[in-house]
Amino acid sequence: MSFKKIVVLFVFITFLSNCKTEDYATEIPQIIPAPNTLTINEGYLLLDSTIGIAYDDNFKISGDFLRKYLQKGSTIELTDSNDIQFKLDDTIENPEGYQLDIQPSAIIIKAKTDQGAFYAVQTLRQLLPPEFENGSFSEENLSIQCITITDAPEFQYRGMHLDVGRHMFSVDFIKQYIDALALLKMNTFHWHLTEDQGWRIEIKKYPKLQDIAAYRNETLIGHYSDQPHQFDGKRYGGFYTQEEVKAIVAYAQARHVTVIPEIELPGHAQAAISAYPNLGCTGEQVNVATKWGVFEHIYCSKEETFEFLEDVLDEVVTLFPSEYIHIGGDEAPKTNWKTCDQCQNRIKEEGLKDEHELQNYFITRIEKHLNSKGKKIIGWDEILEGGLAPNATVMSWRGTKGAIEAAKQKHNVIMTPTSHCYFDYYQSTNPNEPTAIGGFLPLEKVYNFNPIPSELSVPASKYILGAQGNIWTEYMPTEDQVEYMAFPRMFAMSEVVWSQNENKDYPDFIKRVEHFNKRLDVLDINYANHLYEIEGKLISKNNKNYYQLSTTLADKIIYYTTDGSPVNLLSSVYDKPIPIKENTKIIAAVFDTEKRLGSVFYETINYHKAVGATITINKTAHKSYSGSGPEGLINGILGSDSRYGDHQWLGFWGEDIEITIDLVEEIEVKSIETRFYNGNGQWIYAPNEVDIEFILDDGSRVTDKIKVENQENKTLANINYKFVTPKKLDIKVKTIILNIPNYGIIPDGKQGAGQKAWTFIDEIILN
Ligand code: ACM
Ligand code: ZN
Repeated sequence: MSFKKIVVLFVFITFLSNCKTEDYATEIPQIIPAPNTLTINEGYLLLDSTIGIAYDDNFKISGDFLRKYLQKGSTIELTDSNDIQFKLDDTIENPEGYQLDIQPSAIIIKAKTDQGAFYAVQTLRQLLPPEFENGSFSEENLSIQCITITDAPEFQYRGMHLDVGRHMFSVDFIKQYIDALALLKMNTFHWHLTEDQGWRIEIKKYPKLQDIAAYRNETLIGHYSDQPHQFDGKRYGGFYTQEEVKAIVAYAQARHVTVIPEIELPGHAQAAISAYPNLGCTGEQVNVATKWGVFEHIYCSKEETFEFLEDVLDEVVTLFPSEYIHIGGDEAPKTNWKTCDQCQNRIKEEGLKDEHELQNYFITRIEKHLNSKGKKIIGWDEILEGGLAPNATVMSWRGTKGAIEAAKQKHNVIMTPTSHCYFDYYQSTNPNEPTAIGGFLPLEKVYNFNPIPSELSVPASKYILGAQGNIWTEYMPTEDQVEYMAFPRMFAMSEVVWSQNENKDYPDFIKRVEHFNKRLDVLDINYANHLYEIEGKLISKNNKNYYQLSTTLADKIIYYTTDGSPVNLLSSVYDKPIPIKENTKIIAAVFDTEKRLGSVFYETINYHKAVGATITINKTAHKSYSGSGPEGLINGILGSDSRYGDHQWLGFWGEDIEITIDLVEEIEVKSIETRFYNGNGQWIYAPNEVDIEFILDDGSRVTDKIKVENQENKTLANINYKFVTPKKLDIKVKTIILNIPNYGIIPDGKQGAGQKAWTFIDEIILN
């Protein structure tokens, strides 16, 4: 039976049986991640101080966890009788699987391992009122609906990452983060410990890593693309002592979470090089980086560096029982290697073709060392460059190409493509969102992620171990902000990696998110709540334009105004698209019967002559930056001044594009305007010039060139073209064609040098 059907049945039974009990009863089970099967049985178990818990050493972690949870969570005291039983069941196939059976007089947890039982406990935890989370459940007893759940994960690797290099967070916070992973049945914490901006793990043999590499002099203020760069002038940093690391690892072990440390090499090493300049190619004294990006000071391939790295890793492996050590491998510019005698010698001596093969040599050598210590390596997908180290697992972040290549080579893969797994991207287009790195990754997109790339054959797909959400913290200086970016997207990721496809249902999921948010409140975890946010869209039908509103949760009512007045419960109820014939300001919000739930939605439609026309573009926008489709360029709505990942900008990667606008009829026009985005840190460059061609009412064609007003350090580059020809002043046109060349290859010295640039274009305004 599908999950949904069972829930319907459950509501019915609850209705019937609620009248049987006067006690405080649990609500409809709303578990995240959705379990495989859930059957509601008749009756309730009364949890009170007569209930006991019993388990043997096979279930030490899960049993201890549950006992402590119940005791800390409420005033209910537990006896030693065995009403809550843990049973070893070897017939359960998946070592992480479990069965949870709540009967009127017992709770029976069956699993093959302690880990499986631990996940049964997390499910049980979600069946209890959120007040258990902070000990504020003050009733003397609780009726728990009888229920049978059988469950097991889809993927064996279920992870969350956290970058503590860019910003650092307290030990307590790291523990709380691990707690959240465990609650969502995730089993891996990828701890990104070293960066250009700070080295965060104590290495006893190299004290300057603590004294120098752990601190930067100051930090960039605002967004990287705000020019000129400004800094806060405040020293920032710190590191985790080995004692703290051990405590965190032990804490994670007690929650069946594996901590995988990442020690970045050969790139993202500027902090280490600032402490020990010899580790670089130039020997130059550099500072710990104070802004974000990719830096040229990477480890040199000389013997001395390997000695250092092996010493560091030798200390690291003693701290982390994990089978894997992450060695980074991403974003290592080869500039310094090209001009370094020692690196060039290495290339010659080892018979390597180029610097890419030197990267492979570097990674393979480190892999050998770690293999000799009984560890395996994981690296970002750049480790495919110049050949893959023999036993490496690839973490695919630059799309899925690396994953496909690695799986075909029979290497294990973990999926973290930026498109679905980068939780540092914006999660809403609301202009009030706190500054983020860029991009757009809403909850639904994470939810719909399928870790198995469609290109892989069934046998090759077994190399996909799972997926992970990444939290890069350039723009997350506080713990609150990390939580805001992590939740609720971590919920979605947990369901991506745990739940079976047939149990995935987005409308049902967001209702569970709404419910789960109460638990986050009690846990004092900050989260983004876009469930009541409104989305708007201009639509055209039979040459008429309308504005359509929608919100995430289908059972909510939207109210709106179009005259600029504030929206409230007396405003119009939205029931059909709003006709648009002129400049219009729409204000809308979701209300329940008493109050506004989400933030207020504002949209200004600047009506112009191309609104509702036909637009075609000869290339498809990149799927991550497809805005509102080509029509979004003539919908009367301007994109954000600072966020190219919103619903209005269109992004194209490395392509020349041709845009054709066909007006409904020949009309008199005076000017055409648009703007391009410059975000050079994100590889986005405005073109220098645009070609325009338009067809006049007499059938003649006019072509012209438009210079882009592209000023150094300005994010926005405009064009504003006036239609004039020597012969005619009142120009009537039916068709306008814009040819927009791509900027080309990103020049040396810039981020993404050698790669193709992106083109981002906004509303095309015709007057
Ligand atoms: C990465 O985001 N540089 C792995
Ligand atoms: Zn070198």
